Amino acid sequence: MQHDSFEHFFDEGLVERYLLPLKHGKEASVHLFRANPRTTDEDLVALKLYHPLDRRDFRDETLYRDGEFIKERRIRAALAKKTAFGREVQGGLWVSREWETLQTLSAAGVPVPRPIEWTGDAILMSYIGDEQTPAPRLQDHAKADPEELEELWQRCHRAIQHMLYRDVVHGDLSAYNVLVWEDDITVIDFPQAVDPKKNRHAQAFLERDLRRLGEFFDKHGVHHPWERIATDMWTGWLFADLVPEDLRGELTM
Ligand SMILES: Nc1ncnc2c1ncn2[C@@H]1O[C@H](COP(=O)(O)OP(=O)(O)OP(=O)(O)O)[C@@H](O)[C@H]1O
Ligand SMILES: [Mg+2]
Repeated sequence: MQHDSFEHFFDEGLVERYLLPLKHGKEASVHLFRANPRTTDEDLVALKLYHPLDRRDFRDETLYRDGEFIKERRIRAALAKKTAFGREVQGGLWVSREWETLQTLSAAGVPVPRPIEWTGDAILMSYIGDEQTPAPRLQDHAKADPEELEELWQRCHRAIQHMLYRDVVHGDLSAYNVLVWEDDITVIDFPQAVDPKKNRHAQAFLERDLRRLGEFFDKHGVHHPWERIATDMWTGWLFADLVPEDLRGELTM
């Protein structure tokens, strides 16, 4: 399979061979490539290619963009009026939001794919899995071993908290956007992530993220008071600046 949007990554010497399509999602398709290890430090990489704008499922994104000020008046107006140009800008915003969020979180050591390079409609990132098998999603993780599930819940909980302390609320978290590989998790799919310092709906998004994961684990016999956990996590983050510096390490991440 060849695609115009792949060319940049070949030209830059980042990928050497197209291997196979991994997944065709609502907003993007994801493809597996053999990487050039000298330029990427990886053997295999995943390329997330956003669908052309007219094929993308445009959710109402007013809630996600709350608190963000777009400086240029022309762009602001186009976004508000949902003109063709506005949709183009909106599409670009999704990709750049995912790219920036992956960079922030990866640098902070949160378990997310490592972003390598991007264009206006695609993001090249480290691949989770091996050549035969891509990492299954938490949703498809068939193993019912309760101890393992408990450990996975703990890892999800830690990742959500870690993200929050880097001013990121995922906003679309569920067992579909967590990959499980070698007992570890990787959180994916960030185009709708919000900054809790700016977005007035961030607490509601955090609660929904924890609820969706909490309900998944509930269904599989791992019970945690995720409602209270969400409230405590939010309050803890909100007041973290008031905690004396020398105590912070014990209380936050
Ligand atoms: N870095 C990666 N390594 C391995 N597999 C990946 C990677 N990134 C994405 N995938 C696979 O591709 C799928 C789609 O990725 P993602 O969730 O980012 O896109 P999406 O368009 O939102 O898809 P969906 O509509 O299914 O949520 C994931 O469920 C996962 O199976
Ligand atoms: Mg997804």
